[in-house]
Amino acid sequence: MTDTLAATAVYTDPTGAARALPDPEADARVRADDRGHVFHSWSAQALIDPLPVAAGEGATFWDYAGNAYLDFSSQLVNLNLGHQHPDLVTAIQRQAGRMATIQPAMANDVRGELARRIAEVAGDGFEKVFFTNGGADANENAVRMARLVTGRRKVLSMYRSYHGNTSTAIALTGDPRRWPNEPADGSVAKFFGPYAYRSPFHSTSPEEESRRALAHLEQTIVLEGASTIAAIVIETIVGTNGVLVPPPGYLAGVRELCDRFGIVYIADEVMVGFGRVGEWFAFQAFDVAPDLITFAKGVNSGYVPLGGVVISERIAGHFDTVSFPGGLTYSGHPLACAAGVATFEVFERDGILERVRDLGSRVVEPRLREIASRHPSVGDVRGMGLFWAIELVEDRETRTPLVPFNASGADAAPVAAVAAACKRDGVWPFTHFNRVHVAPPLVIGEDDLLRGLDVIDRALSAADEHTR
Ligand SMILES: Cc1ncc(COP(=O)(O)O)c(C=O)c1O
Repeated sequence: MTDTLAATAVYTDPTGAARALPDPEADARVRADDRGHVFHSWSAQALIDPLPVAAGEGATFWDYAGNAYLDFSSQLVNLNLGHQHPDLVTAIQRQAGRMATIQPAMANDVRGELARRIAEVAGDGFEKVFFTNGGADANENAVRMARLVTGRRKVLSMYRSYHGNTSTAIALTGDPRRWPNEPADGSVAKFFGPYAYRSPFHSTSPEEESRRALAHLEQTIVLEGASTIAAIVIETIVGTNGVLVPPPGYLAGVRELCDRFGIVYIADEVMVGFGRVGEWFAFQAFDVAPDLITFAKGVNSGYVPLGGVVISERIAGHFDTVSFPGGLTYSGHPLACAAGVATFEVFERDGILERVRDLGSRVVEPRLREIASRHPSVGDVRGMGLFWAIELVEDRETRTPLVPFNASGADAAPVAAVAAACKRDGVWPFTHFNRVHVAPPLVIGEDDLLRGLDVIDRALSAADEHTR
């Protein structure tokens, strides 16, 4: 095996800053293998140019040219504890030394400990955890549970949502990634969720948006046939499709509708769970409790693939004497669970939830509001904790998006220019349609956080050029 990492050592320069040595040979080798043989997700293979990454540490990663990038997207918003967190790396190494794997029908110490700790932080009424390999199969299995418990088949989910790429999860998805996968499972119906900045309900306040969105959901339930609906699946805060924070009362209203019509409420917390918004689970900020919680990503920062479903007592009880017809070879993989247990220890020892709430309200929010006040291209900023969106517009009055919905190629150029400017200035941004998201690792230093926001501030000049 070629040790490309050793060739690209990270070192500390005289000022104390971490740097990586350029290594053009390794760069060429990694590129060649990747371009020749790796088939990438969601891509036309000949039209992409994946960045070869040499090393990572905390909130920073390096390419083989020695360029450093502040990871403002936490990879795919999964790297909550940053690159190469020593506690997670050590936990995986230790677990590999004592028991690298064991099949799911057997009991295992770290698997059991992680399940217990997750159920404890999920709150009253949550009892058990079914582990999966990631977020899509967590949603897949949550829907399966809801269908079995209710004896109903239909599921409702939102437009502007992402729930994963397996067959039920992509059917639930309310964004263009579903389109080429259609016809998808026909027993999924879509509704509009609240989106105060672009209200589908012509609302003029968050409270009105909440009321009207709930009235629309109730109508959807009635017209789809309440007695046919097993579950409603909602990202507690819509992630990739806009960082849409639910307005006051909305999730409580969803809970009430689910109770009234005997529907299972599934909270997809794959992106927002485990500290992203300063809570173990984002629904805890809204004083509501779902019946099933799906999680992945932040549970162990994706160091080893892991996801799962947290199951309330009522639903878990159904399967006490009735067999659950689902399973995975790697359900509760010990290496993944060891990294999960270490995640709990780091969160508790380092006060990660408090840190995220503090940085979000004291640093990110005021700085983004100030940025918004100076850039004509910024229509809206919204978010919580270390999870924010900057929504870009051509015109603040009309709110016309800076690029059209699902834009690609030349149509997407104004946002691509912002992303390129960020990268030139050492920040790896998360952009989606007409938005730049801010989602750095939760361990990012305050200096780096401010520096990254400064870079975004400068990069937005590229968007301002396209305003009217
Ligand atoms: C809200 C949400 N649900 C589900 C998924 C799917 O997770 P995975 O890619 O681990 O299958 C994602 C992934 O981005 C997500 O953001």
